[in-house]
Amino acid sequence: MDSSSTPLLQVENLSKRYLIKKTLFKKEFFKAVDKVSFTLDRREILGVVGESGSGKSTIGKLVLKLIQKDGGTIKFKGKDIYQFTKEEEKRFRRETSVVFQDPRTSLNPRFKIKEIVEEPLIVHNFPKEEREEKVKKAITDAGLDLSFLDRYPSQLSGGQRQRVAIARAIVLDPDMIVADEPTSALDVSIQLQIINLINSLKKDKGISFLFISHDINVIGMLSDYIMVIYRGKIMEKGKALDILKYPIHPYTKLLIASLPAQHPSQRDKIKYIPEVYREEIDGGCVFYSRCPDATDQCKTPPNYKKVNNREVYCHFV
Ligand SMILES: Nc1ncnc2c1ncn2[C@@H]1O[C@H](COP(=O)(O)OP(=O)(O)OP(=O)(O)O)[C@@H](O)[C@H]1O
Ligand SMILES: [Mg+2]
Repeated sequence: MDSSSTPLLQVENLSKRYLIKKTLFKKEFFKAVDKVSFTLDRREILGVVGESGSGKSTIGKLVLKLIQKDGGTIKFKGKDIYQFTKEEEKRFRRETSVVFQDPRTSLNPRFKIKEIVEEPLIVHNFPKEEREEKVKKAITDAGLDLSFLDRYPSQLSGGQRQRVAIARAIVLDPDMIVADEPTSALDVSIQLQIINLINSLKKDKGISFLFISHDINVIGMLSDYIMVIYRGKIMEKGKALDILKYPIHPYTKLLIASLPAQHPSQRDKIKYIPEVYREEIDGGCVFYSRCPDATDQCKTPPNYKKVNNREVYCHFV
């Protein structure tokens, strides 16, 4: 089951809908994630990018089984995570972890840094004599020195707090981390440090990341593969370099065209793209109402097409 040819994470047709309205006769649902498929291999970073509300965090929570799916399958190391025995479930909890956007709210302010990082080890019944060493190692691996152990989160800067959150996420030696906007609350220069740290954790420890961000610039800096999401659907998925250099889907083009001007190499390939607002239609392409290239054909949903080494959800590729 643990053979290295099996992808670490295999997701097929994953779907999640939220109940938004309930009356006596009718329930209304909102599709937050709609038939999303992807794989994440060992020692790999898959960037998930899309605007606010596109379903990125929902995907992250689904693959960690923090919320229940409504459809599709999620396999971790070849095994359906909904078919786990109690033992396998425990191991899954040990082998996966999460880093959230805002370390101010994700770290308990009443705990010392060493207690925050030690907690997962206690939950997983590591003996006391092993815990101290593991905490120290995680803190150092996250780029902090041991003087931080006895401090409280409020005494740390935003970047240092995020390093503590990462120390906590790696203390159990996980295979996969879902990093949900881990740099979005940080200054640009600090963002870069955290991105470098994540890259080195991938290289040195072989950890795989599902890296979630609304910022395609950040996604481009560290992802091996990219998945562009719009309204719960994958618009384009492929190798990061391919997508950044030659985006195919109109929505990916829009995201890249919105990059700041210090990326002339990317910008000169993209013309100015006008903003479009068309009336919504039910059952067509989900990007129809905002797509600069849409025609009447887009009132019917496109299929995924394989082009230039990637998958694209558009009629015109
Ligand atoms: N518990 C919930 N109940 C109802 N709707 C929800 C719930 N959680 C999320 N949603 C809705 O599902 C959609 C996707 O949410 P999600 O948090 O996954 O988006 P996101 O891409 O992570 O956005 P952001 O960039 O703002 O973090 C949003 O429209 C959101 O309002
Ligand atoms: Mg989110």
